[in-house]
Amino acid sequence: MRVLFATSEVFPLIKTGGLADVSGSLPTALQNLGVDIRILVPGYPSVLKQLVNLRHVASLSNLPVIEHAELMMGMISETKVNVLVIKAAGLYERDGGPYVDVNGQEWLDNPVRFGILSKVAAIISGPNSPIPNWQPDIVHCNDWQTGLAPAYMKLVEHTQAKSVISLHNMAFQGCYAPGWLSTLALPHTNFAVEGFEYHGQLSFLKAGIFYADAITTVSPSYAKEIQTAEFGFGLEGLLSKRGNELKGILNGIETDEWNPEFDPHLIKTYSANKLAGKKLVKSALQERLGLQIDASAPLLGVVSRLTHQKGLDMLVPILQELVDSGCQLALLGSGETTLENAFRQLANSNPNKISVTIGYNEPLSHQIMAGCDMFIMPSRFEPCGLNQLYGLAYGTPPIVNATGGLADSVVDTNIVTFKNKTANGFVMSEASPASLLSCIKQALNVFNNDESAWRQIQKNGMLQNLSWDKSALEYLAEYKKLMQ
Ligand code: ADP
Ligand code: GLC
Repeated sequence: MRVLFATSEVFPLIKTGGLADVSGSLPTALQNLGVDIRILVPGYPSVLKQLVNLRHVASLSNLPVIEHAELMMGMISETKVNVLVIKAAGLYERDGGPYVDVNGQEWLDNPVRFGILSKVAAIISGPNSPIPNWQPDIVHCNDWQTGLAPAYMKLVEHTQAKSVISLHNMAFQGCYAPGWLSTLALPHTNFAVEGFEYHGQLSFLKAGIFYADAITTVSPSYAKEIQTAEFGFGLEGLLSKRGNELKGILNGIETDEWNPEFDPHLIKTYSANKLAGKKLVKSALQERLGLQIDASAPLLGVVSRLTHQKGLDMLVPILQELVDSGCQLALLGSGETTLENAFRQLANSNPNKISVTIGYNEPLSHQIMAGCDMFIMPSRFEPCGLNQLYGLAYGTPPIVNATGGLADSVVDTNIVTFKNKTANGFVMSEASPASLLSCIKQALNVFNNDESAWRQIQKNGMLQNLSWDKSALEYLAEYKKLMQ
C-alpha cells in the first residue's frame, strides 16, 4: 500500500506544535507496519537543510501563480522515512515560521503557499503525475493547510487515489476571500454550500471535510465534540452529516524521542522502577531556571502555546495562592501578549518561585516535562494534546480539563481508580480557575502527604503503552476500508 502523507510541518524538520510531532511519528509507525509511505512537505529552509540525500525527482508544472516548481526527495535520517519536498524558493524559503513572518504576522500569500501544497498532493496522486513509478493509493491530508487536496483530486485531477483528512484542530480553517478561487484555479461552480464556500469565503478546511473520502480526528471524544456547536467552529452541521464516517483515533507518542530512559536532554535518565534520577533532573531544572533548589517544593510545569484554547489564563488568578502555599512554577510558552505579560509579572514578583520562559525551546520542554512534579494543562478544548501524554510517560502526572484527548487519556485519581491502578492524573470538573485550583489542591494533598500513593500514580502513567502501535493499526484499517 502506498500512502502520500501531506502536511505543513513535520518533526524534526520543522515544528510549531503537535501536528509536527504526529507527522513525524505516525508515518514512521505506518512504515514499520509495511506501508510504503512518503511525506509531502513544503521546502522551508530547515527542511532543505536537514534532509539527507536530497535529490531532484521531477519538475512540476501548471501550478497556480508560480507555474513551475521542483519536486525533490530526501530522507529523515532519524526515522528513515522518505520525504517529498516542493522546492519553490519564492514561496517557502523565507525567514520566519511556516505560517507567520518574523513579526508574527500571517504570510499574505498563505493561500498560494498551501494551495500549492494541496495541488501538488493531488497532482502526484493523479493521472498526470510526474512520478509515474510511485502512485499513492491514499493521500492522507492534515488540517486546513492540505484541505484543498481532496477538492483538487476529485474536481480537477480526477485521481484514482482515495483521500483521508485528519482534523487536528477545528479552530484553524484557512478561510480566504473568494477572489482566491481564480488564482488557485478552483472551479467556481463548487463555491457553494455543497462545496468549499463558508460564509462567503473560500474555506480550505471545509473543502477537505466535504471532498475527502474519509475523515479522522485525533481522539474519540473530539470526534463527538466537533459535531456540536460548542466545538465545531461552524462546521458541526457538515461534520454531523458525515458523522458515521468520522473516526476518532487517539494520537500516540514517539517513544524514541519522548522517553525518560534515553532522553539526551536530561542530566540523568530514569524509569518507572528507577525514579531516583527524576529528583536530580528536578534540582538541575530548578538551578537552570533560578528557582530555589528544594526537593520538597511541588514544582508545577507548563509547556504550551499561550492561547485561549489552552486555558492557562485560568492559572493566573490562582497562582499566587499556590506559590504562597509552597509551590513553584516552571512555564515555557509563547502566544497572546497579555497572557505572556501576566505570567512575566507574576514571575517578577515571585523570584525563585516562578520561572517564565517566553519562546520556543525543545530541550527545555523535555527538561520541564521530566523535572516537574505535575503538568498543568487546563485546555478549554483539546483535540488530542501530546503534552499530557509526555507527562504520563515522564512520571509527571497531568492536571487537565475533561475535554477531547485529555478526557481520553487522563484518568482522575479517586478511590476506585487508585485501587484498580488506572489513576494517572487529576481531572478538573469544569473549565474555571476555581476548579483548576481545587484539582491542583487534590494533587498536592497526595504529593505532600502520601509519597507511596504518588509513586503509584506516577507508575500507572509511566507503565502505559502510549506508543503509536495501536493507533497506527487503526489508520491502516481505515486505509484498507477505503481501498476495498
Ligand atoms: P498543540 O499542537 O495544540 O500546541 P500539543 O499538546 O498537541 O498541542 O503539542 C504541542 C507540542 O509543541 C508538544 O510537542 C510541545 O512540547 C511543543 N511545544 C509547545 N510549546 C512549546 C515551546 N514553547 N517550546 C517547546 N516546545 C513547545
Ligand atoms: C493540534 C491540537 C492538539 C493535537 C495536535 C496533534 O495542534 O491542538 O490537541 O494534539 O494537533 O494532533
